[in-house]
Amino acid sequence: MAKPMTQTENVMDNIPYYDKWQQGEGIPIIKTFFVQDLRKVPVAHWDRIGGEGAFINMEGAEGATGAYVCEIAAGKNLKPQRQIYEEMIYVLKGRGATTIWNDKGAKQTFEWQEGSLFALPLNAWHQHFNGQGSEPARFFSVNSMPIVFNLFHNADFIFNVPYDFTDRFNGEPDYFSGKGTAHTGRIWDTNFIADARNFKLEEWKERGGGGTNVMLEMASGSMAAHISEFPIGTYKKAHRHGPGFNVIIIKGKGFSLFWRQGEPIKRYDWQDGSVFTPPPMMWHQHFNTGATPARYLPPRLGGIKYSLGEQFGDITKVDKDVKAGGNQIEYWDEDPSIRKMFEEELAKSGTTTRMNPDFYKKK
Ligand SMILES: [Fe+2]
Repeated sequence: MAKPMTQTENVMDNIPYYDKWQQGEGIPIIKTFFVQDLRKVPVAHWDRIGGEGAFINMEGAEGATGAYVCEIAAGKNLKPQRQIYEEMIYVLKGRGATTIWNDKGAKQTFEWQEGSLFALPLNAWHQHFNGQGSEPARFFSVNSMPIVFNLFHNADFIFNVPYDFTDRFNGEPDYFSGKGTAHTGRIWDTNFIADARNFKLEEWKERGGGGTNVMLEMASGSMAAHISEFPIGTYKKAHRHGPGFNVIIIKGKGFSLFWRQGEPIKRYDWQDGSVFTPPPMMWHQHFNTGATPARYLPPRLGGIKYSLGEQFGDITKVDKDVKAGGNQIEYWDEDPSIRKMFEEELAKSGTTTRMNPDFYKKK
């Protein structure tokens, strides 16, 4: 195991600091385009946090976001930690609780379970507890570690800044109540979602397939997320956007296609627990071949309230026709082989398409 790295070593190797720092943490580093099941990713003891973990360096993220899997042993807890990168956490299995506090505020604790989603307020102290004495708890973190680590290249600073961002979190007792505030246009401002798999969604016609969605702004961060679902026997329109949309499948079964103009199409078959991160401006399209609606949750860099502009997290063009300056291929313009291939896939499991023929009529 390499020596844990806190500050920059003066080596002209052109390797990002975050990559070198990871090497010293002593846990598996998985670099991949696609993870079939986050619940099955092997983890190893991670001394820094006092649990087990594995870094998941999603190729399509291209350093816009980082990710890791963490497991807390039955009846155990992790060490308290604060940090100046943002972090969104989706609970893959088990149940437990997290205590949050800042230097001047009172401690508060909220409980989570499989399917919960929450965001850690920037630089707030936090400690995670497994609430079960018989089973491990496992979560998936999507975070802004690569950008922050590479920018400051000093881990000691990143984990030891004595500053409370009271504009983001000031000990409010209902901060993690899950109450939230609904805004127009399917936007939901909240810090905790008890069960993302069953959270109520709103119609989002423009993305196709009879799908529904909410856009999530969390913990006043520069990271955001959304939850989308599309019905049995349907598929979404192809679209593209910037890097760092970490698409976690939280319900259902199906596949996605990825391609750039003139290059071969890649296909990945997914189920609950899969994750992929479409590379910047690569076309991608999601297909539901399962027996239930398919639901996915992509934590990302770049929100609506705290936007990072067009390069990161911009959702303004993801549901607009590419022929009109947007980043979406309308059903009536797509290669007809896509619809045919989908219908053939459904036939394999003895089901048929539920795509409305009107979807394909030019509007
Ligand atoms: Fe997408």
